[in-house]
Formats: sequence, C-alpha cells, structure tokens
Amino acid sequence: MNKAALIVGARPQFIKTAPLIVELGRFWQMVLIHTGQHYDFMMSENFFRELSIPSPDYHLNIAPGSQGKQTGRMIEGLESVLKYEAPELVVVVGDTNSTMAGAIASSKLRLPLAHVEAGDRARDKYLPEQINRVITDSIAEYFFCPSNTEVLNLKAEGKIENICDSGDVIYDCLRQFEKYIPEAPSAIPHLPPEYILTTLHRADAVDNRENMESILQSLETAHLPILFPIHPRTLKRLHQFNLFDRLPDNIRLVNPVGYLDILSLIRRASLIVTDSGGIQREAIYLKKPVLIARPETEWLGLEKSGLLKIVGYKFDFNEFSSMHAGDRSVFDYIIRPASKTIAETLSKLF
Ligand code: UD1
Ligand code: UDP
Repeated sequence: MNKAALIVGARPQFIKTAPLIVELGRFWQMVLIHTGQHYDFMMSENFFRELSIPSPDYHLNIAPGSQGKQTGRMIEGLESVLKYEAPELVVVVGDTNSTMAGAIASSKLRLPLAHVEAGDRARDKYLPEQINRVITDSIAEYFFCPSNTEVLNLKAEGKIENICDSGDVIYDCLRQFEKYIPEAPSAIPHLPPEYILTTLHRADAVDNRENMESILQSLETAHLPILFPIHPRTLKRLHQFNLFDRLPDNIRLVNPVGYLDILSLIRRASLIVTDSGGIQREAIYLKKPVLIARPETEWLGLEKSGLLKIVGYKFDFNEFSSMHAGDRSVFDYIIRPASKTIAETLSKLF
C-alpha cells in the first residue's frame, strides 16, 4: 500500500477530514499531521472525538503567532515529518495557513500534492485565504474542486490537467452525520424558540474595529435574539477594542460548540448571518437562508439557491424579511460523494 500524508490544522479541516480519511484509507496507508494551528479543546480535539477521526500521527504544536511566524514554523515542522515519512502523496485541504505550509513543504521535497477544495477564488487578492489558495494551486498537481465554478476558475488560470469536479467535502460530512444531529444543541441551555445564528471570524471583519462595530450595529436591527458562538479570534478582538460594553442587548455570546450542535443550531435558526465558508454551505444544504457578512462570497454556485445574500458589514434586517428559495437545482450538482470520488480518482493515478 502506498503512503499518503494528510495535513490539517484548523477547525474546518478537521470536519472535512472526517469522511476523507476513511475513503483515502481504503487505498492508502494514511499519515495524519496536525500543525496545531487551532488548539483550544473546542476548536480542535473535540472534533476528533465527536467525528471519530483517528488521533494525528504527528502534532506539531505550532504556537500562535504572526502570519509569517506561524507559517514558517509549520513549514519547518512539516518538512521534517515529510522527509522522515517520505509519502508517495500529500493531501492538503481548504485555504488556511496549514494548507499553504503543507503545499510549500511537500513541493520543495518534490512530493506529489493533491489539493482538496481547489480553484476556490475571491476578488480580493489580499484576503489571507486567497493568498493561501493561489499559492497552493500554483504548486499542486491534482485538483479536486467542489463544483464546476472552481473548475472554470482553474481553467481560466491556464490549468488543464488533473482537475476533477469531485463535489463538496463539507456536504459529505453533513450527509454522514445528519442522522446524529440532536433536536436541540446539548451545550446551549434555554435556547430561544426563534433566533438568528451568527458566526464571525474573518480577519477583515473582526481585526478592523470599524468593520466589527458596523456588524454589531447591524445585528442590533434584528427583532429576534442573536445567538453567537464566538471564535477565539473574535473574542480576543472584542476585548482589545473594548467592545464588550457596547454589545447590543439582543446578542448572546456562547463558546464555540461542537459539530453536531452547530448543525442543530443551523437547523433550528430562523436566519444565519456569517462570514464562514463552511457554515454558509451547511446552511444552504439544510435549506436555511444566510446573510453573508462580507463584501463577497467565493461560493457563487450557491447564490442560485436564492437562500444566500451578500450584505457586507453594514446591513439592516428589516430589508431581509422575505428570502425565498430560488433554483433548487443548486442542490443537485454539489451534492455528490466527494471524498469517495477523490480517493478513487487518486488511487487510479498511482
Ligand atoms: C483560520 C484560517 C481561516 C479559517 C479559520 C477557521 C488562516 C490564515 N486563516 O483563521 O481561513 O476560516 O481558521 O476557523 O489560516 N485562537 C485561539 N485558539 C484556537 C485558535 C485560535 O485562541 O484554538 C486565537 C489565537 O489568538 C490566534 C487567533 O485566534 O492568534 C487566530 O487564529 P488563526 O489560526 O491564526 O486564524 P483564524 O482566525 O482561526
Ligand atoms: N463549526 C463548529 N462549531 C462552531 C462554529 C463552526 O463546529 O461553533 C463548524 C461549522 O459547522 C463548519 C466549520 O466549523 O463546518 C467552519 O469553520 P469556520 O467557520 O471556523 O471556518 P471557515 O469554514 O470559514 O474556513
């Protein structure tokens, strides 16, 4: 059996790994490497337990730091492990610093690299995730795209070989765990009968005081309570900008929750407001309306559902009282067994 290394580090990557590692494991001896980019129990280990992901073979325990420090340490650690393990294939997922570090470390060692969620593009070239995607796709050899939109993005950049429209790994995981979603989330007592679910963590939204204040003021226009499982980055900025006292009364902050709880919260919510790539897709797959608190979304295919609206940092809920589902065919083309397709495609190439 050939050996494949799978590199993860941040919350969405653990979720995407759950179905992927099982399918890849049918053809490859798997080595799972966790960079340590996310490290709080509820941002990392909880997902391994909840989704029965095998413990990482290597945990690099990268300390938090600036972009350069964090990425540099990851490349250094990954280089040693990849040199020692000498896998026939390296798989990276998504668009975090762990993804880019994995891509750079493996390509410098001349190891074949597969990118899952390849071809995802934003207009903003300085978006940290965009930098990670463009660099990763420029050195990857095998591209697995969530839909035809991303295939076309790669082709527009001149890539022609080894591009597979595999479907969305986020949907895969949702499909696998949907039957276990609890009626009510176990970690949130006294859940209001109606609420809006909010998550925010993008650097441009929360590291910028003006944008963060704008979003908070916008959330205040809601007539429903806002339930806000807060990402550690956002919590840190609320403290730093002294915005705790200015939190609107209708906002209830809670700690990040587990995967099944967040799906339960999405399913019960009246509306979702988020800047999360994963949550906007999960919401649409669960047929819930989503407002994107960003200037753009990469998930253009989902806009056809009629359930998604880009509202930026300044918005008023009174304008969104009637969001109706549009073209439901959006569900047909994204909803495919992505992990199985990825594993089978790769197995035929080696
Ligand atoms: C990262 C990804 C982003 C992804 C997000 C998923 C990059 C550039 N960004 O953003 O694409 O959408 O993960 O959640 O890779 N922190 C903790 N505990 C943790 C994790 C983070 O306290 O377990 C705090 C630290 O102060 C850290 C800050 O959050 O410095 C930011 O974490 P980092 O991993 O650098 O970026 P994210 O905002 O999480
Ligand atoms: N998620 C979770 N608990 C939370 C918030 C998010 O399990 O409190 C899950 C969510 O369901 C999705 C993933 O984390 O699958 C998205 O991660 P995040 O929003 O941090 O990053 P992004 O998808 O924007 O990269």
